Amino acid sequence: QTTALVAGAVGKDGYRHYMEKELHEHPLVIGQTLQRMIDPATRKVVLPDMPVDLATVPRAAITACGSAFYAGVVGRYWLEEIARLPVDIDVASEMRYRNPPLTPGSLGILISQSGETADTLAAMRSLKQAGLPILSILNAEHSSMARESDVVLGTVAGPEISVASTKAFTAQLTVLACLTIAIARARGTLDALGEEELVTALLDLPSKAAEVFTHGDAIRKMATIVAEARDVLYLGRGSGYPVAMEGALKLKEISYIHAEAYAAGEMKHGPISLIDRTVPIVATVPSGVLFDKTLSNLQEARARGGRLLAFTDDEGAERVSAIAEQTIVLPKVHPFVTPLIQTIGVQILAYETALLKGTDVDQPRNLAKSVTVE
Ligand code: AGP
Repeated sequence: QTTALVAGAVGKDGYRHYMEKELHEHPLVIGQTLQRMIDPATRKVVLPDMPVDLATVPRAAITACGSAFYAGVVGRYWLEEIARLPVDIDVASEMRYRNPPLTPGSLGILISQSGETADTLAAMRSLKQAGLPILSILNAEHSSMARESDVVLGTVAGPEISVASTKAFTAQLTVLACLTIAIARARGTLDALGEEELVTALLDLPSKAAEVFTHGDAIRKMATIVAEARDVLYLGRGSGYPVAMEGALKLKEISYIHAEAYAAGEMKHGPISLIDRTVPIVATVPSGVLFDKTLSNLQEARARGGRLLAFTDDEGAERVSAIAEQTIVLPKVHPFVTPLIQTIGVQILAYETALLKGTDVDQPRNLAKSVTVE
């Protein structure tokens, strides 16, 4: 399958853009990355030798740029909640200059599709200088970052041609999810039953991810509203908040519409003054422990004339569609892996919006696939 994916990289395989093709590769890429990380016989996550003892490592320091950084933010929610591992995280362009008081013995975790991003490379060198061993999550396994890392976990995404990252992002999340399970096992915060539950949720993902594409018409309809906007708000809670960040970035970079992500609970501390009918609100609001709170934030925005465009699941559908102008019911999955399903939804929304705007989807203005300059 990997060969097929790499071979396909030279052409668009009948898709209109590389981004459209690479969006459709989400299920394949998640499955391939899982095959690399999980032993099919034991259904256990298997990691290469680590430069630290995962049972006693005191903290992790995560750094990356752009979408890779948002993947790291999802990873922080998982590592802290499931593995109870404290995480310091910052964008690489800040981490490299902040000289943070890092805990000795911490593990540095870098995330990068290209393995050549200048800021992430510089941040890695500053972490190494502080004595941290480096684990890198990379798509380009023969890159500068790979050469300078102590261990590399590969995202099996194949070449990603479109400047906007799509399949590499869910592959990064897949690796982070597996890493979380392995660290939680080592730290004793996840028993065999818990591990089986999370691994099953991951192994069910490729088929659930494929189901998202059955909502193409509804997402295209949602894009007609977003395409008319000058500003868009993305809201999410918990691990859905970095998904909102990723959705906002995707929209900005390929459709040139201003968008920003907020933790849904932050709205009442200022941003709600932005709300009127000209500012659509894209919300990731899956069912689960944060559903009621997020719904009440959305009701507050709705009461002020906000146009709610929501991604939920079948458990949340009835209550969300009662207040949203448009509701897309994505496949219901284990809360652990909801970020991956919601990500595909907001990335498709950005793509469909960019089509309506007529922008150069694969090569947006001012952008490069790998930012090798500072
Ligand atoms: C993502 O769509 C952007 N193109 C950009 O933010 C990218 O994620 C960032 O530049 C990091 O690149 P890397 O993963 O190759 O390090």
